[in-house]
Amino acid sequence: MPSHRGEFSSKAGFILAASGSAVGLGNIWGFPTNAAENGGGAFVLMYFVLAFCLAYPALMAELIIGRHTKANMVHALQIISPDRTSKSIGKLTGYYGILVASLILSFYSIVAGWMLAYLVDPLATLGGFNGLSDWLTSNSMARNLLFTGLFLVLTCSVIAAGVEHGIEKWSCRLMPALLVMFAGLILYVLIQPGAIAGLKVYLIPDFSQLNDPKLIVSALGQAFFSLSLGVGTMLIYGSYLRPEENLPAVGAIVTLVDSSIAFLAGLLVLPALFVAQQYGLTIYTESGNLIAGPDLIFQTLPALFAGMGMVGTLVALVFFALMSIAALTSSISMLEVPVSYTIENHATHRRAATWLTGAAIFVVSSAIIVNFEALFGLVVTLTTEYSQPLLGLLLCVFATWVWHRDMILEEIRSGHPEVEYSLFWKIWPSYAKYCCPLLILLVLAQSLTS
Ligand code: PFF
Repeated sequence: MPSHRGEFSSKAGFILAASGSAVGLGNIWGFPTNAAENGGGAFVLMYFVLAFCLAYPALMAELIIGRHTKANMVHALQIISPDRTSKSIGKLTGYYGILVASLILSFYSIVAGWMLAYLVDPLATLGGFNGLSDWLTSNSMARNLLFTGLFLVLTCSVIAAGVEHGIEKWSCRLMPALLVMFAGLILYVLIQPGAIAGLKVYLIPDFSQLNDPKLIVSALGQAFFSLSLGVGTMLIYGSYLRPEENLPAVGAIVTLVDSSIAFLAGLLVLPALFVAQQYGLTIYTESGNLIAGPDLIFQTLPALFAGMGMVGTLVALVFFALMSIAALTSSISMLEVPVSYTIENHATHRRAATWLTGAAIFVVSSAIIVNFEALFGLVVTLTTEYSQPLLGLLLCVFATWVWHRDMILEEIRSGHPEVEYSLFWKIWPSYAKYCCPLLILLVLAQSLTS
């Protein structure tokens, strides 16, 4: 029986929801372009090392705290703190997490709104509505406000329905659809002329870049963003997980799914770029780098699809449906952070909490849209490059320095009775206590000084 705060009804439901949170625009868009800019295979290698050696231990800290406390981040960090000082710091850390999750959602929904507009565009083209098609693909404030709002309405509709009937149900529907579309697109792109050149750029490592601090900072930021760490999304999903589930195993599956999808995305986006070159499109910027950022997704790829004729319209439809689905399964996990806090700390009904929070986030998104040049990049950098690793570090500190080791063991034991004798227990406690905070600090210091 689900408790009144909601619960995932199955292990698969949790894995699909947590992977849905992890797999998003960060994987399909961010990872391949980051890899292309930072030494191809060398970046991929560094990313995998960091995902398993730094992000996975931090993910475990969140999942364990969440499942033990069955509470939102603000409350959870107070529950595991033994004295008043650590409780106060826990509370502040929780608020910081909620703030960062909400800010990430406010810029993420703008980008997801662009994806929705580009998803509607092929339909407008098919229907012969050329004026509408032009409006959908030109960057106007009205379009951005409309589609950001629309995307937030979709996100709120899922969250308002609760954990089992909203988050779990929709993750179980959308994630398999995403995987099928993804596989179909990769196969299609890989058989196009020029694709192999893209594969080479992606996979052949330029090891000389491995000691470039920029590569390490980018790979760590990418790993933390991609696993949705630090801001309490995994903590709150962990709090809806049943006691009989094996935490180290489900955490490892989510990390593996997330990094595999990121890796596969490289097999789609970079070959597609080089296919575009065959169609006569420019794929290098004036400074000689491969096109990345919005230009890649909203100019080069749409131009490639347009050049492919009727098939291209279908490919565009599938590609932007894929992006929109990936964005939605991530945005619901971000919205759940402030919503669960509002429900639990202010005795509000889920529906009211969801729509009120959604409206507040829309106001922030609108402010970013109106002051795009000044605010967008700033919010992205402050939240994802600095705040997420810092919060990940604080969560590791809370789990291993503030909380009691025996309680952690007991919590994991409920779904994994022999954990005491496992490799996980031999490594994780001291690793998350000393190595993770130190390594995250080093990388953060590096990025602040560079
Ligand atoms: N993991 C998502 C992605 O890769 O796009 C982004 C994300 C989701 C970041 C949830 C933070 C978060 F709380």
